[in-house]
Order: sequence, then structure tokens, then C-alpha cells
Amino acid sequence: MININIFLTQSLIYDDLQLKDKNVLVVDVLRATTTIAVALNNGAKEVIPAESTPKAAKIKRGSANALLCGERNGVKVVGFDLGNSPLEFDPALIKNKTLIFSTTNGTNAIVKSRLAKNCVLASFINLKTIIDFIIGLNQDFTIVCSGKNNNFCLEDFVCAGVIIKELLSCKPAEVEYALSDVEYAALELAEKYVYENGKVSEDKIFEMMKKTEHGKFLMTLGFEKDLAKCSEYNSLLKLPIYSKEVIKLKEQIELEHNQRQQMKKINLSSEKGN
Ligand code: MLT
Repeated sequence: MININIFLTQSLIYDDLQLKDKNVLVVDVLRATTTIAVALNNGAKEVIPAESTPKAAKIKRGSANALLCGERNGVKVVGFDLGNSPLEFDPALIKNKTLIFSTTNGTNAIVKSRLAKNCVLASFINLKTIIDFIIGLNQDFTIVCSGKNNNFCLEDFVCAGVIIKELLSCKPAEVEYALSDVEYAALELAEKYVYENGKVSEDKIFEMMKKTEHGKFLMTLGFEKDLAKCSEYNSLLKLPIYSKEVIKLKEQIELEHNQRQQMKKINLSSEKGN
């Protein structure tokens, strides 16, 4: 039996040890986990999450070419290069760049997962890759909903519900997941807010986003298009992985691994030749 555990908000994680050796999915659909996935897909080399703006500035002192990105109260931090809108991360601006990222809740949730066995970033836009990851893993996992200002937020919890619902619909017959009250509640809300005739509806995700506290707040700041972008269900089939304090796409990690293996082979054969 595989156990699923959901944290309703990142503030319930008061000690990194709570996530030690766990398989963690961090969810901040509005907007950090969506934006980081988009930025990496648009060519950023890597993302370094920081739990505070002073911490981000400190990391930046050691890497002059990196860009400082993120928000407080929804808007770009004064002195930062970019904010937290998925529409800002133009390939021309970020190609091969290291992005140091600090947001109010999302990057905190990510940093708190630093002792996890595996940590991946989930959102509506890459949900299918998350399902494939969980099925491949075949182990207990924890979903950390980032929440809003140390509190519950609907959009992350509904995304957690969609993850569970999609997983149950395509899991191998012999695999069983143990669900508790919180997972049943997530399933119910996902069904209510984003499913239509048994399928996830992108329009319904967008409508739900517009009703949420954070969605409404972002719209007052003029970010309605961000809500639409964050609703694009399965539009980006990439898996951002947080490991050794850095977030990279799975394919990038695999490429770097293969390059290291190649280098080792070349070094070994040149040693033999000597
Ligand atoms: C957060 O981390 O709280 C956010 O991603 C907020 C936002 O910029 O929408």
C-alpha cells in the first residue's frame, strides 16, 4: 500500500527534518512552480531557490551573471531583474542563465524540501509528467501545497486533488494508494472545480483561479494573463527537479550525467593509452 500525505500549507513544515528522505511534490500553481517550469523550459540553465530576499542577494554576490528573480506582494522585488510572472521569462533574457529565485511562499516550500529523497515541482501545466514520475517511483509521497501567507489556498489543494485523481485513473491494477480524509477532500474539490464530463477542463481551472483569493489579488495587479498561463493544463511536459539546492529539468540532469560519464570514459582510455 502506498501512502500519500498532503501538507495544506508550507508553514506546517516548521522543521526540514519533516521532509527528510521523503518523495516530495511542491505545488505553487499561482505562480512559483509554474513560472520556474516555464523559465527552465525557455532556456534558463538552472534555478536556485532562496527563502528570503537577503538570502537571494547573498547567493547573487557569488555569481555575478545570475539574475535575481521573484516577488513580494505579487510584484517584482525592488532591485531584482525579473518578477514571478511566467510571461516575463523570455528566452532572449534568460538563455543559459542561473536564476536566483525568491517568492513569498513557493520558494520557501522548495527550500524546506532540501533533505527530501526526491523533490519535484508540480503545477497544472506539467501535471502529466508528475503522474509519470509518481508511477515510476512506486513509493510513498508527500504533496506540499505552498499556500498563501502561511495559510491554505484553494488552487494548490485542487491541483493536489487532480494529481491524486489522475494517478488513480491510470495506476497499474496491482498498486494501491492509501487515502485519508485530506486526500478525499482534495479529490472532491478537484471534481467540483476543474472536472467536466470526467476530464480536466482548462476553462474550469481558469474560472477557479479567478475566484481564489490569490487569483483575485493577482488580477488587481494586472496579472490576469498569468492566471490563464497557469491554467494551461499539460502544456509543458517537463519535470523540474530540486536536488543539491538547485532546480533543473530532468532532461538537463540526464544530459549532464551522460556528459560526465563520457568524460570519465575519455579520461580512462587516455590513461590506458599512456
Ligand atoms: C508565492 O510564492 O507566494 C507566489 O508564487 C506568489 C505570486 O507571485 O503569485
